[in-house]
Amino acid sequence: MLVLGIETSCDETSAAVVQDGRRIISQAITSSLGFHKKYGGVIPEIASRMHAEKICFVTDAVLKEAGIKIKDIDLVAVTKEPGLISSLLVGISFARALSFTIAKPLIDLDHIEAHIYANFLEKDHSKIRFPFIGLVISGGHTCLFLVKNFKDIKLIGTTFDDASGEAFDKVAKILGLAYPGGVAIENLVKGRSFNRIKFSCGKEVEGLDFSFSGIKTAVLYYVKNKKVLTHKDKIDIAASFQEAVVDVLIEKSYLACRNNRVKTLLVGGGVAANARLRERLFELEADKAIKVYFPPKLLCTDNAAMVAGLGYQLYKN
Ligand code: KG4
Ligand code: ZN
Repeated sequence: MLVLGIETSCDETSAAVVQDGRRIISQAITSSLGFHKKYGGVIPEIASRMHAEKICFVTDAVLKEAGIKIKDIDLVAVTKEPGLISSLLVGISFARALSFTIAKPLIDLDHIEAHIYANFLEKDHSKIRFPFIGLVISGGHTCLFLVKNFKDIKLIGTTFDDASGEAFDKVAKILGLAYPGGVAIENLVKGRSFNRIKFSCGKEVEGLDFSFSGIKTAVLYYVKNKKVLTHKDKIDIAASFQEAVVDVLIEKSYLACRNNRVKTLLVGGGVAANARLRERLFELEADKAIKVYFPPKLLCTDNAAMVAGLGYQLYKN
């Protein structure tokens, strides 16, 4: 079964053709990121206008690359929520019109769940077994799920305030770094010492929930109290901040596995691209005998392949 996936929830306009929920035949991702950079965050009006401009091109491109015609598509899958409403509207309207025109079914689905599904698109991941814990760490969300099957996904932990990716973006802005902050911070701290400054991240939050706004404020005051901020100071702050965020993500993911007697953890979302986090996840796997999966970097951030993949599974169900 060939599924066309459409993703327009934030700044990426993406289309993909995926076969039987596992094999990516073709994918195109274009982003309006360059137009938002000077504002330090995504401007919804700019994002939605770019989606409207690009959506036909990316769809054409993936059909061409797959060597198929639109009538060969068996199912259209689209991100329904969450996201910027004006951006979602472009993708949903396009997908609905397309499905109607070619008389093929349409399935709309949750973007956060699709981030977890991105793991199933990696060839080496054919051995993933249910149930598992899903950790989604993106610009808008930080969530832990207990996943029994594709239809039984239960939220067991979430953030009370900022998302983990949002914290990266805000701390990067405080340090005068570019948007998106996660990439900028990771590049700045590569290979440096990780805990010169003691920042704590949501230590007061019990159980499986998170809080990331306190650490952002702590960084802000730390910077304000410094009379002169050198390049080395910036590196120390960024590295210590990153380590504190990674600490809490690892700690709560392990707790979620232990509390639910689950031995498998799937991680997804933009922050899952972070190299230090990936290193620490390998350590968790070795120390605690938990099988950890995360997608290749391209499938961590927003993409239509994960939408097509999950769409296939939901449709089959
Ligand atoms: O999943 P995503 O592409 O979009 C949303 O659904 O939000 O995630 C974007 C977020 C941004 O906040 C960005 O700063 C963060 O993911 N991010 C990273 C890295 N790459 C992207 N955070 C930490 N390290 C990275 N390498
Ligand atoms: Zn996302």
